[in-house]
Amino acid sequence: MKLIIFGAQASGKGTQAVKIAEKFGIPQISTGDILRDNINKNTDLGKKAQIIMNQGNLVSDEIVNNMVRERLKARDCKKGFILDGYPRTKAQTEFLETLPYKIDAVINLYVSKPELIKRISSRRVCANCKTNYNLIYIKPKKEGVCDKCNCKLVIRDDDKPEAIKKRLTIYHEQTEPLIEFYRKKGVLKTINGEEPIDKVFRNIIEKQS
Ligand code: AP5
Repeated sequence: MKLIIFGAQASGKGTQAVKIAEKFGIPQISTGDILRDNINKNTDLGKKAQIIMNQGNLVSDEIVNNMVRERLKARDCKKGFILDGYPRTKAQTEFLETLPYKIDAVINLYVSKPELIKRISSRRVCANCKTNYNLIYIKPKKEGVCDKCNCKLVIRDDDKPEAIKKRLTIYHEQTEPLIEFYRKKGVLKTINGEEPIDKVFRNIIEKQS
């Protein structure tokens, strides 16, 4: 099964992609996670990406396209994959079309702007294992500490107000128009992303069968 999960910042792409990946035994390929991993490891790519990401801008199409092409060659992608956060520009969509994979479905999570902002400002992430929390919806058992590994919870650098504003504008201008492309291909499945996490997941699974 080859899937794309699509939606604005904090629409729940990462949250749902992890669950879908587990359910179907396929890897979740998050371009944001790969880039953050490079930042943590202080690679050349990470050094370049860090400045761009913290400002809320997109990393160049060339870098991201090459990253995805290489990742999709790995053995664990033979059974399928779920792309999370890719493609998000016209050039990335066109590039993906040139690769030898037929996308079965594009899951489009719709969430209103006020709710997106509420979720982003209450998101916390474990500095160590990257588990996602939310101060409103998914609180850690102990304030500021990860339930899984006991490490500190932090705010993502790109979740700060100026970067958020930029990211939402870029989504609206460059990413949202791609929905039409996938609608015309007949693979788009729009889901109400404002329901509770488990309900969103059930609705996604129902639409796959
Ligand atoms: P990326 O990491 O992909 O960030 P994003 O697209 O901004 O998405 P988010 O991680 O903010 O949100 P999400 O939809 O995954 O929501 P989540 O599940 O966390 O990209 C980061 C940066 O990397 C980009 O800005 C760019 O610079 C670069 N980049 C990445 N890909 C690129 C590309 N293709 N091209 C160029 N540059 C690229 O949920 C959000 C919060 O809400 C969490 O706290 C969660 O717990 C909570 N939540 C989730 N679902 C629900 C629900 N149903 N109800 C209540 N709360 C919920």
